[in-house]
This record gives sequence, structure tokens and C-alpha cells, in this order.
Amino acid sequence: MPGGVSSPGRASIPRATLRKDRWRRAPIITFILLSAWVLYALLRTVWQAAYYDDKAHYLSPFYSPCVTASCNPGARDFGTWFGHFPPIIPFAIVTLPFLLGFRLTCYYYRRSYYRAFWASPPGCGVAEPHASYSGETKFPLIVQNLHRYFWLAAGLISVINTWDVIQAFRPNDGHSFGFGLGTIIMLANVVLLWAYTLSCHSCRHIVGGRLRNFSAHPLRYKAWVYVSKLNAKHMQLAWTTLATLALTDGYIALVASGAFSDPRILH
Ligand code: FES
Repeated sequence: MPGGVSSPGRASIPRATLRKDRWRRAPIITFILLSAWVLYALLRTVWQAAYYDDKAHYLSPFYSPCVTASCNPGARDFGTWFGHFPPIIPFAIVTLPFLLGFRLTCYYYRRSYYRAFWASPPGCGVAEPHASYSGETKFPLIVQNLHRYFWLAAGLISVINTWDVIQAFRPNDGHSFGFGLGTIIMLANVVLLWAYTLSCHSCRHIVGGRLRNFSAHPLRYKAWVYVSKLNAKHMQLAWTTLATLALTDGYIALVASGAFSDPRILH
């Protein structure tokens, strides 16, 4: 039984695509970059070291919030919720399912990894190799519909990351005010994380959706206009935040391990 692009009623085009541009480039680049990022994040979360610098109070976003008894005591700003985890379980297990859920169900990433990893389809106007298509109506892909709930969790984690930046302005156990290059990197990362979170398609709907008219809701209209502007940059923010997350974590790993001395701008 023919399926997909060979289904009855579909145009019978023998070639996979009539496109003449370099359409393979985007999915290949996506495949390489996403694979590299996932590998880096995996290595860093299982490493369980060099994630916190006491003196500067830099905590890696990959380990925040640090709430197990195995965490460095100085990094436990939100208390100790759990006992010691066995070394095989990363500290990040507390937030990782939510952050992964948020990114994996993101509309933009869905488009990207469906193309890059499943060739479903490989590109616009390119026939997919799969015989059938059930959309996101069955398990496991029906889980993609939980995106709006992951958005709420991601917002909460962004609040925690914001707290971490505030603490990075209060080095030496909060006894002074100061900042270094790492603080600026953390700050840039959290601003971009907020921009990515607020540019989410679900956020845009939560802010301005289900209204009969905007004139009766001027505040929501203003917020919707602002979020819509950010939403137009969602793809760029998706990639930029992956880069800044890795940069922030990598920088803190260098400082915390003693491989690099953080230049202080104000002590
Ligand atoms: S659509 Fe990408 S984060 Fe919501």
C-alpha cells in the first residue's frame, strides 16, 4: 500500500525533489551542531566536577540548582533537597528532564531534528523516504503537545539562573560586590535564555491567544506585540542560547578547575 508522497491524490512526481539549491546543507549542519552539543552536554553532566567556583560564586547552568548533598556546599543556594546521589546519577537529573523536554518539544527544534535526524522530510519540497506519516497524533510524538507545560518549567529554571547571576555579583560568600569576565558571560547567557523562553510560540499564545479582540486588553496586546517581535528571532535565539550555555559552562569549568584565572573587573 503506497503511503506518504505516493498516496492517492498526491501529484505523481518521480523525482525526490525539483529543488536545485543546496537544500542538503541546512540539515547536515544541524546534524553536526546538535550532535556536538549533545555530546558536550553529556560529557559535562556526567563529569560532576569543575562546575562551581567558590571565590567568584560562579555556578554552571548545567548544574543549577545544585540541591543534593553531593554538591559543593557553597553552590547549594536553594538548600539540600536530596541526600548523596550515586556517582552514576548526575546532579543535573533534577532539571535535565524539564530542560530537555523544553528544547526537544520546541517547535523550531522539532522542525530541525525531524529534518536532520529522521529525514521527515529532509527539506521543504523534498519527498520523505518514509512510507507513512501519522503526524504527532500517536505515542511517542504526541508528547510534543506538552510543550506549553515544559515552557512553564523552563521559565522557573530561568528564574533560578537569574539568581545565580545575582550571586555572581556577590563574590566571597556574598560579603562584597564585584564582577569579573565570568559574571558578564553568565549575565549575557541569562538575558539570552530569557529572550529564547519569551520568544516561544506557546508563550506568544499564552500572552495573546484566546482573545476576541485586543482593544479590550491593551496590556496583553502590548505584551503580545513585544513577544511577537522576539518570536520572529526564535530560530536565532535557539542556536545562540545553545552556544552561550556551552560557553558559560566551559568558562566556569576552566575557572573552577584552575586552568584559567578569571579577570576581575571589580573586586
Ligand atoms: S516553540 Fe521553541 S521554545 Fe517554545
